[in-house]
Amino acid sequence: MNGTWLVTGSRGQLGRALTERLRGAGRHCLAFSHEDLDVGSEDAVQAAFDALEAPPVVVLNAAAFTHVDRCEEESERAWAVNAVAPGLLARLCSERGARFVHVSTDYVFPGDAREPYTEEDPVGPASGYGRSKLEGEERVRAVSQDFLVVRSSWLFGQGRNFPATLLGLAAERRSAAVKQALRVVDDQWGRPSYAEDLAVGILALLEADARGLYHLANTGVASWWELARFCLDESGYGDLEIERIQTADFERPAPRPTWSVLDCGKAAALGVEMRNWKDAVRAYLVSGDAPRGPVEFAR
Ligand SMILES: NC(=O)c1ccc[n+]([C@@H]2O[C@H](COP(=O)([O-])OP(=O)(O)OC[C@H]3O[C@@H](n4cnc5c(N)ncnc54)[C@H](OP(=O)(O)O)[C@@H]3O)[C@@H](O)[C@H]2O)c1
Repeated sequence: MNGTWLVTGSRGQLGRALTERLRGAGRHCLAFSHEDLDVGSEDAVQAAFDALEAPPVVVLNAAAFTHVDRCEEESERAWAVNAVAPGLLARLCSERGARFVHVSTDYVFPGDAREPYTEEDPVGPASGYGRSKLEGEERVRAVSQDFLVVRSSWLFGQGRNFPATLLGLAAERRSAAVKQALRVVDDQWGRPSYAEDLAVGILALLEADARGLYHLANTGVASWWELARFCLDESGYGDLEIERIQTADFERPAPRPTWSVLDCGKAAALGVEMRNWKDAVRAYLVSGDAPRGPVEFAR
């Protein structure tokens, strides 16, 4: 697909990975960070599209308000960014003949299943974040069933994510700045996914002319505790203990799904499959994406 590719949310985990991949492949890629374009402003989005010299061939929407707990309090913002913006971007793409790719989440599911969720399984988000993301999907589909919507889960890459937070906490404990034991929930299950792999997978789906809804995540299943243990073991913190706790021990503003495992068979049938999450975590840990010291945030 020759021509201009446009990435929104280009400084997020996925946005960065997509932009780097596209530019590395010699594509002309316009990368719009939050500062460059607030997708929550309909006027700003319209003006940005009007200002383009030529219509883009593909628009990849990696912008999202991903602070799950803050989405409960800041519901208007969540709705503008996660629900309204995808529909507007889809309409503008439809009017200009551009392909549109939107990214969504495992949080659209209720999270009480025991088998991996397929694209056909009933949705039922339990959080404000999940509800806003589901509405975004529906608004995209209402414009065109041909647009690509990719749901992923438990993302980590360059930015704010669980492994980064954990490595920061481990660094604090190693330096004896904090003595408290690490505590991580062991009754929520999902597929940790590396933003780099997701970017490659999304571009491969586009290459395969996939349209409609697809699940895409690294393979294998882990609990947060298992992911935490693996991250620490692989980064020289094997001696640091992590206490296993239950969801009920760790109250948060937004409920978290117990079961977040996405069935990625539909993408695999097109030959698009991501590696095992452990290999992906290893790749992340040796990349420049993983922090080397204390970090500030928790997901
Ligand atoms: N993170 C996960 O675990 C996870 C799991 C499943 C699916 N997903 C989905 O995957 C996609 C990519 O997620 P990610 O992990 O890359 O998220 P991320 O790292 O939080 O990146 C999102 C980007 O969107 C930007 N953004 C927020 N509000 C915006 C606005 N109004 N206008 C323009 N940009 C805005 C953010 O900028 P600021 O930081 O400056 O606000 C950030 O750069 C999202 O659709 C997300 O819902 C994520």
